[in-house]
Amino acid sequence: MNRRRVIIDCDPGIDDSLALMLALSSQELEVAGITIVCGNGPAEMGFSNAKKILSQMGRLDVPVFLGAEHPLKREYVNALDTHGADALGESFLPEAFEGVPQKGAVEFLEKELLQANCSVIALGPLTNLALLIKKNPEAYERMEELVSMGGNFRSHGNCSPVAEYNYWADPDAAALVYETAAKLGKKISMVGLDVTRRIVLTPDLLSYMKRLDRKMGAFVERITKFYFDFHWEWEHLIGCVINDPLAVAYFVDRSLCDGREAYVAVETGGLTLGQSVVDAEGFYRREANAVVMTETDPLRFFQMFFGRILSLKEEQLDLLPDLVRR
Ligand code: RIB
Ligand code: CA
Repeated sequence: MNRRRVIIDCDPGIDDSLALMLALSSQELEVAGITIVCGNGPAEMGFSNAKKILSQMGRLDVPVFLGAEHPLKREYVNALDTHGADALGESFLPEAFEGVPQKGAVEFLEKELLQANCSVIALGPLTNLALLIKKNPEAYERMEELVSMGGNFRSHGNCSPVAEYNYWADPDAAALVYETAAKLGKKISMVGLDVTRRIVLTPDLLSYMKRLDRKMGAFVERITKFYFDFHWEWEHLIGCVINDPLAVAYFVDRSLCDGREAYVAVETGGLTLGQSVVDAEGFYRREANAVVMTETDPLRFFQMFFGRILSLKEEQLDLLPDLVRR
C-alpha cells in the first residue's frame, strides 16, 4: 500500500484529538508531523494535548510543532467553553513532554511541502497556512492537497448565525487561503458543518466502544464527557458532534463524503464575519476553488472510526447499524 504523507494542522481540542487517533490508526497515512494553531485553546495548550494523544497512542515519535498563538488580525477567541479548561474535556491528563514546546510549525510546513508529495489536513483555524503563504507561497503551491474541516454551506453557523468556528476565529487567514487556492487553480476540500453535524457520538456508541475495548473506550469517555455535557446544555443534544475525525476519514476514503465544486470566499468583517460564502450559482463567475461537502454516510464513518481505533473488522462491529444516528 502506498501511504500518503500528511501533516495535521490542528487545535486539540476534543474532536481534533479523536481525529489524531483516527489518523494514527490508519495505515494509509504517514503522519509526517502535527502543527498546532491557536483555536479551541491557546497554542501551547494544544501542543501539550497533542503530546498527550501521541502518548496514549504510543506515537511520541511523531513530531509536534507550535504555530500561531494569535490570529492574523482579529483578537484571539478560544473555545474553552466547549472543550473545557484544558481544551481536552477537563480530563487533566498528565503532561507527556518536558521542557518548552518545539516552535517552528510554519517552517516545518514549508520544509515538508517543498520536499515531498505532502498534503495537509487542517482541523483548526487556518492561521498557520496563511503565514506559510506569506512566507513562501511556493510551498503552499507544492502542497499536494488541502482538506479543511471548516465552514458551512446550507447549514447554520456555530459561532454566529452564519459562521463556523475555524473560519470565524481567523477569517483573514481563511480568506487568504481560499483566495490563494483560487489564484493557483487549486480546490480545497471543505468538510464543513453541513456534513460534520451528522457525525454524532452518542452515549450508546460510547457504551458499545467500552464493551468492545474497555481501555480505549474509557479514554474516549474521559476526553468527551465535558463535550457531551456542553451539547446537552447548549444544543439540547444527547451526544456530541465530532467534526474533525470526518475530515481525516474523508482524506482516507473519498467515498465517505460527496459534494460540489464551487468558488468559496470568506467574509472578513461585519455582521457575517467568518462566513464561508459558497457561490453555488456562479454569480461571481470565478473558477471553483473548493469542493464543498454536502453529503456523508455516518454509518460508514463510524465503521471506519471504530474499526481503526479499536483494530476491529467490520464484521466485529455488528451492532453499529442499530446504534448510528443516520
Ligand atoms: O467548528 C468546529 C471546529 O472548530 C472543530 O475543528 C473544532 O475542533 C473547532 O476547532
Ligand atoms: Ca479543531
